[in-house]
Amino acid sequence: MDGKEEEGPKKRYNCARRSRYTNKRVSLIFSQTFIMHVSLKFIKIRTVYCLITVTLIFALFYLYNTSYLNKTEVEIARVTTIRPPNETTAYKVLRPKTTTKYILLWTDHDLHPFVYFGEGNSIFAKQKCGYTNCYVTSNKELLRDVTEYDIIAFNGPQLDIGDLPTLRSFHQKYVYANIEAADNYPICKDDWNHFFNWTWTYKLNSDAIWGYVVVMNSSNHIIGPSLAVDWMSVDDMVPIDMDLKQKLATKNKAAAWFVSNCNTISNREEFVNELQTYLGDFNLKIDVYGACGTFQCPKEIMNKCLVEMQENYYFFLAFENAISEDYVTEKVLLALNHNTVPIVYGGADYSRFLPPGSYLNAKTLGAENLAKEMYDIIENREIYYRYFRWRKYYRFARRLENPESNEYCRFCAMANDENLMKETKIYHNFSAWWNSTEMCDFNEIGK
Ligand SMILES: *[C@@H]1O[C@H](CO)[C@@H](O)[C@H](O)[C@H]1NC(C)=O
Ligand SMILES: *[C@@H]1O[C@H](CO)[C@@H](O)[C@H](O)[C@H]1NC(C)=O
Ligand SMILES: *[C@@H]1O[C@H](CO)[C@@H](O)[C@H](O)[C@H]1NC(C)=O
Ligand SMILES: *[C@@H]1O[C@H](CO)[C@@H](O)[C@H](O)[C@H]1NC(C)=O
Ligand SMILES: *[C@@H]1O[C@H](CO)[C@@H](O)[C@H](O)[C@H]1NC(C)=O
Repeated sequence: MDGKEEEGPKKRYNCARRSRYTNKRVSLIFSQTFIMHVSLKFIKIRTVYCLITVTLIFALFYLYNTSYLNKTEVEIARVTTIRPPNETTAYKVLRPKTTTKYILLWTDHDLHPFVYFGEGNSIFAKQKCGYTNCYVTSNKELLRDVTEYDIIAFNGPQLDIGDLPTLRSFHQKYVYANIEAADNYPICKDDWNHFFNWTWTYKLNSDAIWGYVVVMNSSNHIIGPSLAVDWMSVDDMVPIDMDLKQKLATKNKAAAWFVSNCNTISNREEFVNELQTYLGDFNLKIDVYGACGTFQCPKEIMNKCLVEMQENYYFFLAFENAISEDYVTEKVLLALNHNTVPIVYGGADYSRFLPPGSYLNAKTLGAENLAKEMYDIIENREIYYRYFRWRKYYRFARRLENPESNEYCRFCAMANDENLMKETKIYHNFSAWWNSTEMCDFNEIGK
């Protein structure tokens, strides 16, 4: 490019030079005055803009620092007696105007299920929640005082009447969290009436459900567990295919039970003993794996073990350690997801959790009938096959595996729901809601 363009002007040097020279001079003089003129004007304008900007920045900085912009006035109605709460003072304070929702874990951070939270908002980001602006902490001094947290959560097993916040604001939500069975942590007295605003438990009528199992239909919509699920009837489901029949053909043992806690308040161990006796009449038995039995399946090789077991066993026992409403743990998934039929035993209405014709209910059948039923099913392949029809229509998973049913996401979403946060909700009769009344009748534990 350089060579070619230099050749042209050289040839026309003489005539071109002169005219170019004059032109240059004229334009130089002209442009100099023009530039001077323009830049003077420009400098003036720039100075004015500069001054305005600087003033604005200082003004904003001043406003920011004097809390007009980053704080908002909220009315804090504090109570000194929080159980039952009675209003003593109402005054206005400036709260930091931030979109962060502060969740204070009042009880131990290390205890399940609080332990999964971690500190801060990392869990919400990690779980890819819709809202990630919740800040979880167990540091009671993070904010100026406890009335400034949006939510205070108490873990049921550690509920202690002698260790409660001393100040409370009416805008806060006090949350009762518990993933343990009501019968293991009964509340029998009226001590906790009018105290909690929200519940976050495995019970299906909780404000946020913190459960173990989720059911999806064939188009991957979560349809359960819920207080009323519109299941298909087994008769409307098509029979299972050859492939699945072949997988079920290798079975030759009645039932397996994985258990580590040998002495439970549900008394399941006594039930199993009784069941063994009746099964004996049919020459059948339950193989008990783990600490309470003679069969072993160490945790390290659990998966290998399970593969072998799904080849051999017709039934898996999914017996809960406590008989409480809606208390159904992931034990039932072990059966459902391993080509065996679960035999359930618990306080739940299982039609809220499982499709019809997918399980046997030990509690409603009783040991003697259950043994007979198991025998009949084992003897008749066609009946056994019916217990697998649901597989074409439903799918089961652990709750946490699903972002839609993820408890942590749901909780942060609730904290972000202005209407929900503002709406006054009070559990007036908490012991009745927690429904551990059977335990309360038997002994006077009280909590
Ligand atoms: C609040 O409760 C405390 C302790 O029970 C009681 O002494 C006080 O009179 C109550 N205040 C009101 C306004 O009811
Ligand atoms: C699954 O459930 C959703 C929501 O209830 C429903 O719209 C959809 O039709 C269901 N899919 C099937 C295959 O039943
Ligand atoms: C309490 O739980 C039992 C099952 O343990 C259930 O049958 C009963 O309906 C529940 N009561 C209330 C009031 O929810
Ligand atoms: C929370 O419960 C307390 C105690 O019953 C009540 O005074 C307060 O109004 C409730 N607040 C909200 C936001 O539900
Ligand atoms: C709570 O509900 C139970 C059961 O319905 C009832 O027996 C009890 O009297 C109620 N307690 C209060 C304080 O209302």
